[in-house]
Amino acid sequence: MIGIIGAMDSEVNGIKSVMTDKTVRTVASVEFCSGTLCGKKVVVAEAGVGKVNAAVTAQIMILEYNASAVINTGVAGGLEDSLRIGDIVVADRVAEHDMDTTPFGDEPGFITGLERVYMDCDKKIVDILESSAEEAGMSAMVGLIVSGDQFICRDEQRSRLKEVFGAAAAEMEGAAIGHVCVMNGVPFGVIRAMSDCANDDSISDFPAFEKAAAAKSIEIIKRAVEKMDV
Ligand code: ADE
Repeated sequence: MIGIIGAMDSEVNGIKSVMTDKTVRTVASVEFCSGTLCGKKVVVAEAGVGKVNAAVTAQIMILEYNASAVINTGVAGGLEDSLRIGDIVVADRVAEHDMDTTPFGDEPGFITGLERVYMDCDKKIVDILESSAEEAGMSAMVGLIVSGDQFICRDEQRSRLKEVFGAAAAEMEGAAIGHVCVMNGVPFGVIRAMSDCANDDSISDFPAFEKAAAAKSIEIIKRAVEKMDV
């Protein structure tokens, strides 16, 4: 069973609408839609925005649905200067940019317990997402995606994420899903289409481009699921 998580309805409805043999169940206020997508067993959930919602949803997919891989789909704010609205980033690793135990001498983003800042995405999933993007006519940048419980739209936030972490894109869930997957030994991947460039224009760009960007990520997910051997 492949778990697919999005934060908002625009990030998952286009997947649920093409699934067959659907069963819907609500756990911890999150709706889980299990069934078949492109010949593969999947469970899809709209987790809600932010790291806690994402973590709860990922853990339920692993425990209740025995998910053998989890993919996070949706939109993000582009940080890498070459990224434009609509461009795709596939994460090769993720980090929680708002994790901060620096007063104790830790690096920014250090996760006590996991003892690391950066969590590696599954190489096979990264390759499948990248090639699926290409097949869909969209070239993907592969790089670091950072997550935090903040919408990034100010210069000082944007500069910090680029300078401290070297991040390509910022969103609010992927690293939380990665964190849960690492704790459970489950492979994971994150793909995001840029709804904005995490800058002054983001407040107006995000609502204007979120739906179209989310649809691009879904298009790639559908192709990727077909190729996965889980
Ligand atoms: N998701 C989409 N755009 C974002 C931004 N600018 N900051 C955080 N999450 C986002």
